[in-house]
Amino acid sequence: MKMPFDKNSHIRVVKTIAEGLMEAGALENYLELGVRACNCFNVVAPFAKTAYAVEIKAVNKKYMRATNGIYYGRSTNQFFMEIPNDLKFDLVFIDAQHKKDASLLDFANAFPHVSDNGIILLHDTYPPSKEFIDDHCNDCWETASEIRNTCKNDCEIVTLPFYYGITIVRKCNRQLMWK
Ligand SMILES: C[S@@+](CC[C@H](N)C(=O)[O-])C[C@H]1O[C@@H](n2cnc3c(N)ncnc32)[C@H](O)[C@@H]1O
Repeated sequence: MKMPFDKNSHIRVVKTIAEGLMEAGALENYLELGVRACNCFNVVAPFAKTAYAVEIKAVNKKYMRATNGIYYGRSTNQFFMEIPNDLKFDLVFIDAQHKKDASLLDFANAFPHVSDNGIILLHDTYPPSKEFIDDHCNDCWETASEIRNTCKNDCEIVTLPFYYGITIVRKCNRQLMWK
């Protein structure tokens, strides 16, 4: 299968969003679900005060370089069961299990922990062809579709149709959250 993008291209987008939030004074806590070798996490974490990495493979902690990083070597479900109810994240990158049901559950679990005006990103939501659904992205494009259909009043949402798809969700109930 021909790969149209570099597998780490998405990191540039996550990084730019983190940098913008940081410059706006709006990035305290960053959360990444599924960090693998921390390629994205190590780039993004420095923009936050505290960065939380969740990865089912506890052994992957060895890749973490961020000095402000907290590593949870367990499943995303376990993570959400253990954190305090009042812990809020300003930027969440959902990139763990790419099956629809699992990624939808990650979104549902994360949503109450996202600050007003906070941003949730989902990766691999625009597979460029059917082969990519079978082989790489799984069916989490349906997650983005479901969020679009069900969360209209609680957020705004767009999917960038490149780098296998990055869906950007802003948690808001009006355009200007300060007004
Ligand atoms: C696509 S990789 C993450 C890539 C990383 N976000 C990046 O951009 O460099 C997905 C990772 O999620 C982890 N993962 C899969 N299911 C998980 C779960 N239920 N809980 C936590 N991590 C999970 C896998 O072990 C894998 O390392």
